[in-house]
Amino acid sequence: MEIKPITIVGCGPGALEYVTPAALRAIHEAEVLVGARRLLESFPEVAALRILVGADVPQALAAMTEHLGQRRIVVLVTGDPGLCSLARPVIQHFGRDACRVIPGISSVHAAFASVGIDWFGARILSAHDQPPDLAPASLAFENKLALLAGNPAHSAWVAALAAALVATHDLFVCENLTLADESVRRVDCLPVNLASRTVLLFIKKEISL
Ligand SMILES: C[S@@+](CC[C@H](N)C(=O)[O-])C[C@H]1O[C@@H](n2cnc3c(N)ncnc32)[C@H](O)[C@@H]1O
Repeated sequence: MEIKPITIVGCGPGALEYVTPAALRAIHEAEVLVGARRLLESFPEVAALRILVGADVPQALAAMTEHLGQRRIVVLVTGDPGLCSLARPVIQHFGRDACRVIPGISSVHAAFASVGIDWFGARILSAHDQPPDLAPASLAFENKLALLAGNPAHSAWVAALAAALVATHDLFVCENLTLADESVRRVDCLPVNLASRTVLLFIKKEISL
């Protein structure tokens, strides 16, 4: 009997046109769709069972276990699975051999594209779940730094980073990328309120000309 793998699908930064055809094919073949509410609601045409993932990730993993190997389980994640997503706990729990990953366009890809700067050599950090365990000033030597900064709980660390890098780096605030209310700005100081979908880019002044 065929053992069906878990497919983890990157759904891009927001707009449906940034979901790849490979991702769409996997989503439409799903028998069980797993993900956050927004992602589950993005594909109303898919007649699959749904497992909503909220704050209790272990509960969602347990619900997936009931279908493991028997139904095509598709886990939806924002952006690319390889960057701060549900892919990590799913793969840790079920193992790499039980999972296949379909990459997606990350919010970080979209952020660099929106300012026309390549991301080769960029340092990528997240203040989404936790602020990085780093002193902001220690990042001043980075030429290109992308920060996932959509969680207001960690705004103090983000503000400290902006203050530490203001003299040496240009700061781009990239909000709601690919969506109708997308906003990309170069700013001299960090706005107080950031959208829940925000990537900050810090680019050394001499290379952001
Ligand atoms: C849990 S992480 C998911 C990252 C995702 N796997 C990726 O590759 O973009 C959530 C963070 O992604 C960023 N994000 C997701 N969608 C975004 C968008 N459309 N515009 C700007 N930032 C976005 C924000 O920094 C948010 O805090």
